[in-house]
Amino acid sequence: MPRFPAPVTSRLPTVGTTIFTVMSRLAAEHGALNLSQGFPDFPASPALFDLVAKHMHAGANQYAPMAGAPPLREALARKAEATFGTRYDPEHEITVTAGATQAIHAAVTALVRPGDEVIVLEPVYDSYVPAIELCGATAVRARLRPPAWRPDWAEVRRLVTPRTRMVMINSPHNPTGGTWAAEDLDALAELTRGTGIVVLSDEVYEHIVFDGRRHESCARHPELRDRSVVVGSFGKTFHVTGWKVGWALAPRELMAEFRKVHQFVVFTVNTPVQLALAEFLAEPARYLELPAFYQRKRDLFRAGLAASRFELLPCSGTYFQLASYQAISDEPDTALAERLTREIGVASVPVSAFYAAPPEQGPEARLLRFCFAKGEETLSRACERLAKV
Ligand SMILES: Cc1ncc(COP(=O)(O)O)c(C=O)c1O
Repeated sequence: MPRFPAPVTSRLPTVGTTIFTVMSRLAAEHGALNLSQGFPDFPASPALFDLVAKHMHAGANQYAPMAGAPPLREALARKAEATFGTRYDPEHEITVTAGATQAIHAAVTALVRPGDEVIVLEPVYDSYVPAIELCGATAVRARLRPPAWRPDWAEVRRLVTPRTRMVMINSPHNPTGGTWAAEDLDALAELTRGTGIVVLSDEVYEHIVFDGRRHESCARHPELRDRSVVVGSFGKTFHVTGWKVGWALAPRELMAEFRKVHQFVVFTVNTPVQLALAEFLAEPARYLELPAFYQRKRDLFRAGLAASRFELLPCSGTYFQLASYQAISDEPDTALAERLTREIGVASVPVSAFYAAPPEQGPEARLLRFCFAKGEETLSRACERLAKV
């Protein structure tokens, strides 16, 4: 086999295959119920598929404008106004992206410079730190603490330096299922007031919040709105993670820079899907029903594990449930997640994967993440198996 004839110097020397890929592969090999990777196992609305087919047959198959199909940007502006009471100008402040991941990458690439520092909160979603490091910047880590997994603002404040360029936040939060309160956004506003710090707010689970809570968005906050890039994902909202379509909202000055990167990374996103999503958004019930839809699954999963030896942490948003296995084993979480996949046929994600230096003791250690975006029968079968552990 021909080989590349020189050493390759990696830009990301510590990055390997993600734990999500590893666990999904292991689940497939062992025929396990896959509660590891965060995707639904039930179909999306047939009405959405019909709309995509309609636009394809109508000939909408060439490049959309770089920032996104105008009807979709307008629909996103209406949604932001209805949900958060905030006006974003579709011409200058909204861009359609190839999923939230690409929006995050474009925002970091556009706004973070070599030598900058970016504050992230651990446990942290896996795409953030590589994006920061590819810019020649440094990720500075604060810790979210159980059971609520909200920031210790005094700790975050101590990490701010003249080099701090960005704070990356995520609520509702993967993997913990925690959600921020309005006071958290006020604290962030106070911390960044009078600075050039940009907030990158990953809000892909904005519509998956439970027990009557309101999602606290940076888009809703009068001060943070003007210093934030707010990222969303149709994959999470309409059960189509494989379509990889998302968006970014940002004030005009930030969005102008964002688009400079976006246009040379993907240029633009799948046209018929954008037009279909624009029409589908016309009925807000389609996303407003998500809290009740997922709360039922959360409650079913929690009830199914209530008598087990797992201790369930609170879950106020997202479709992830954390479970402590302190009472079951003192194995490292990766070993246990692999063993449960092989031996009882239920795959999960070890929470240590979300840390640079995983906690070995205390309530942050010995946690597995289960995704409950699954059919009720799958959830019931998973609970039966987990209850025997
Ligand atoms: C917190 C968070 N951000 C971003 C993403 C990626 O979203 P997308 O599939 O739209 O790129 C995910 C997907 O799991 C996520 O959990």
